[in-house]
Amino acid sequence: MAVVTIVGAGVIGVSWARLFGAAGWEVRVSDPRPDLRDIVDRQLAGLSVTSTSDLAAAASGADFVQEAGPERVSVKEKMFATLAANTRDDVVLASSSSSLLPSVIAQGNPAADRIVIGHPFNPPELMPLVEVVPGPQTSARTVDRATEVYRALGKTPIRLKKEIPGFVGNRLQKVVDDQATYLVQQGVIDVKDLDDLVRASLGLRWATIGPFESGVLGGGPEGMRHLVEHVASQMTFEIGEPDAAGMNDVLDKVEQTYGTGEAAYERLAGLRDERTRAVLKPLGWPEPPEADGPRD
Ligand SMILES: NC(=O)c1ccc[n+]([C@@H]2O[C@H](COP(=O)([O-])OP(=O)(O)OC[C@H]3O[C@@H](n4cnc5c(N)ncnc54)[C@H](O)[C@@H]3O)[C@@H](O)[C@H]2O)c1
Repeated sequence: MAVVTIVGAGVIGVSWARLFGAAGWEVRVSDPRPDLRDIVDRQLAGLSVTSTSDLAAAASGADFVQEAGPERVSVKEKMFATLAANTRDDVVLASSSSSLLPSVIAQGNPAADRIVIGHPFNPPELMPLVEVVPGPQTSARTVDRATEVYRALGKTPIRLKKEIPGFVGNRLQKVVDDQATYLVQQGVIDVKDLDDLVRASLGLRWATIGPFESGVLGGGPEGMRHLVEHVASQMTFEIGEPDAAGMNDVLDKVEQTYGTGEAAYERLAGLRDERTRAVLKPLGWPEPPEADGPRD
């Protein structure tokens, strides 16, 4: 049985563990959190999983590593130094980082050729995409092997041609999220209506066609050229930027709208997962593993 070491048992690590476990991998989870045993028992029940706070021990003998620890360069540098020292030289060391450059994570690391970004969208067990982002030192073999593993898990790995902060998915997401915050701060719309507006328009559209294809269709038979010349050319307004100092007020509004804590999280995550599962197959994505157990 192939062995995967998952580094970090937070939101992303647990979901990766479920995905690898359901695909028949032996999973080792490493995290210093004191409730690690409890998390594994409650959220990864029925899978072949062991857990330890000792990262070196968890990495030793692994065939693939998927890191999902804190999004801090200094922490990732340390984790990857330990991973480099305790894995065979054919083992891919993939980071789930949302925006950090692989070249920065791999700086000074003797296994820089094995370090690659394998960035999922949350939750990795349901969302098809994994962005595979090589740094300048990442070997072609590492990229190929990571791509092969993600594809075998039923994911859709998309390889970027070169590294860029935030990669592609989160650069696009940041533009939309910043504008959503700006519009709430400007009093144009409230949190719930903004979410409903997106679900009823851009979300549904982008589940079926991408922005460029949408441009082609929006222009009718004359295509995107027509749309750009006749419609997009008139959108000359400034889009503004959110006020970072006012972010707390927006967060208060989000919390008032959706609640906080475990019960709210369980309810919202359950609804999201149910809806996501319902559309994956009709949209042509591979069926994800069955859900079991709580996720908190
Ligand atoms: N949350 C998301 O939507 C999302 C999506 C895609 C990618 N990511 C990326 O995945 C990674 C994990 O994010 P998350 O949201 O699961 O964070 P999280 O805070 O939920 O979990 C991080 C876990 O890492 C553990 N940890 C701390 N130090 C550690 C160490 N030295 N060794 C092992 N584990 C350690 C923490 O105890 C915690 O359980 C980040 O790099 C993040 O950017 C997050």
